[in-house]
Amino acid sequence: MTTAETRAGALPALADVPVRDLRVAVLGVGMMGADHVARLHSRVSGAQVVAVSDAFAEKAEQVAAGVPGCRVVGDPLAAIADDDVDAVVIATPGQFHEEQVLACIERGTPVLCEKPLTMDAGSSLAVVRAEDEHTARTGRRLVQVGFMRRFDPEYAELKALVDGGGLGEPLVVHCTHRNASVPPYFTSEMMVNDSVVHEVDVARFLLDEEIAAVTVLRPRATRHAVADQSDPLLVLLETTGGRVVDVECFVSTGVGYEVRTEVVGEDGSAMIGLDAGLVRATAGPAGASRSTGIAPDFRQRFGRAYDIELQRWVDAARRGEVDGPGAWDGYAAQAVCAAGVEALHSGQRTVVRMEAR
Ligand SMILES: NC(=O)c1ccc[n+]([C@@H]2O[C@H](COP(=O)([O-])OP(=O)(O)OC[C@H]3O[C@@H](n4cnc5c(N)ncnc54)[C@H](O)[C@@H]3O)[C@@H](O)[C@H]2O)c1
Repeated sequence: MTTAETRAGALPALADVPVRDLRVAVLGVGMMGADHVARLHSRVSGAQVVAVSDAFAEKAEQVAAGVPGCRVVGDPLAAIADDDVDAVVIATPGQFHEEQVLACIERGTPVLCEKPLTMDAGSSLAVVRAEDEHTARTGRRLVQVGFMRRFDPEYAELKALVDGGGLGEPLVVHCTHRNASVPPYFTSEMMVNDSVVHEVDVARFLLDEEIAAVTVLRPRATRHAVADQSDPLLVLLETTGGRVVDVECFVSTGVGYEVRTEVVGEDGSAMIGLDAGLVRATAGPAGASRSTGIAPDFRQRFGRAYDIELQRWVDAARRGEVDGPGAWDGYAAQAVCAAGVEALHSGQRTVVRMEAR
């Protein structure tokens, strides 16, 4: 019996969810994957990490050792094909995602794939099509993409405000995305593909529209920029409905991780990301002042979002559903970033080339 059949006429929630925990394999246990394993093991209910796989066996052994009952499987495709694995988290580098996600779809296994879905729009579209074909046969979706900001309580509140009409018609979105520093290999192209990609998803999420065109301006670079790179960048996204989103992406501020988003509507505006948790008053040589902390990096700022993302993914997978950004969102982000990189190089407004949904 399919989950959809079980759901018909059944009591909601509890009657819906299989008693057995979701048995999860995590592929790639570097920074993100190891974090996901720790979360699934200690903070998320209804899941058990039963297998990990990593190109570095020692790393996999180390992570598996912290989770009772967790095995190391050398080949990630063998982990996907394992009969004792119900669902998969992919946190390998982006170039391996396509093959691994397609293997999950082929087997009918729910998968949470870290962004990017794949390395380019064409291969992301192929994943969309493969999942569509599976859905046409089974009625089930399988793919969720790791755009975790959608699960951040502040973003969720902003989305509810926009959707509820609390700001009137949204017109403009201002985004700030700053890092204290980045490694020396971090290029301006990576600023678009790895940083601004999150604002691309946020814009699509908040406005419920596709991005139609991208322009990238290169203001005077900071002296702290990685050699020969443009930092900061100012990225303008135009939506299909004529709204404009501006993104200041600045990855060598020397300060901290600052992600702010402000939606300006016909009837008001709302901003998130001020990190205004604890406001501390202190006396100093220049007089008394008030200050708040700034998250050092994305793991602190979005820790709660990752918790909620994983819990909702587990709950949905146990019901046979997907409850988050899907393959289409991964494809759209890739298409917009491809236009963004083109715009970065050409200095021209660049139209996003995307298939109709
Ligand atoms: N959503 C977010 O906020 C966020 C943040 C950072 C990174 N990411 C994404 O998460 C993914 C992983 O990033 P990371 O920073 O953890 O990288 P990382 O380099 O720290 O970890 C990647 C791990 O994968 C392993 N690996 C490499 N090739 C493999 C293969 N073929 N099969 C199995 N394991 C393999 C590596 O040995 C490494 O341990 C990337 O796609 C990245 O873009 C997402």
